[in-house]
Amino acid sequence: MLNEQGFNLWANDYDQTVQLSEDNNLYPFAGYKNVLNTIFKEIMQNKQSNVLDIGFGTAVLTSQLYENGHRIDGLDFSTRMIAIAQSKMPLANLMEWDISKGLPDSFKDNKYDAIVSTYALHHLADEEKVTFIKSLLPLLTVNGKIFIGDIAFRTRWELEVCRNASIDYWDEDEFYFVSNEINASLKNVYTCKFHPVSHCGGVFMLTR
Ligand SMILES: C[S@@+](CC[C@H](N)C(=O)[O-])C[C@H]1O[C@@H](n2cnc3c(N)ncnc32)[C@H](O)[C@@H]1O
Repeated sequence: MLNEQGFNLWANDYDQTVQLSEDNNLYPFAGYKNVLNTIFKEIMQNKQSNVLDIGFGTAVLTSQLYENGHRIDGLDFSTRMIAIAQSKMPLANLMEWDISKGLPDSFKDNKYDAIVSTYALHHLADEEKVTFIKSLLPLLTVNGKIFIGDIAFRTRWELEVCRNASIDYWDEDEFYFVSNEINASLKNVYTCKFHPVSHCGGVFMLTR
């Protein structure tokens, strides 16, 4: 599992690595641009949303929203990723923070029309993920939505098929979303819809 130093080292080559995997339609980033674009189009239905991006990385998604007039807050634990993202979004409120500790106190009273997280929450173990996603509920405006784009599968069987096909470079330290399992864990808190985008990626849309 990569820690913040690992992400600092990866930051400069991150976009290139993603593109290579995506161009070859391979795990882990097959469908990456379509995943981000699905979320971008949803948020663009409103003007000037307040957006929180969790694990924003090089801000491929949020810099596009920023350029279109949305207000961006973000959390990420990599100083190098923050530097890259901040250079693209000078007025964004980006905080260095490790989400395995939950949400920072200074964000707990904020309200967002959209909370997004792409390819970041698989760094939390399944139970941690569920607790963290539940903790986002008070941060949503009345019609607010959560968009999670990530390595994700409809069922654990589909995950295993992908794992077997990618066994030489499968990352055993990451915890990928399985739609029917996460839906069951969140069903008392959110309505959760999963939109598969590729053989290993998709978008979850969560509403109250
Ligand atoms: C694979 S990158 C995804 C970046 C971007 N969201 C995207 O879709 O391209 C994962 C990002 O999550 C951040 N991250 C991973 N674990 C984290 C943690 N525990 N707390 C805060 N940020 C974390 C990393 O620093 C990195 O920027």
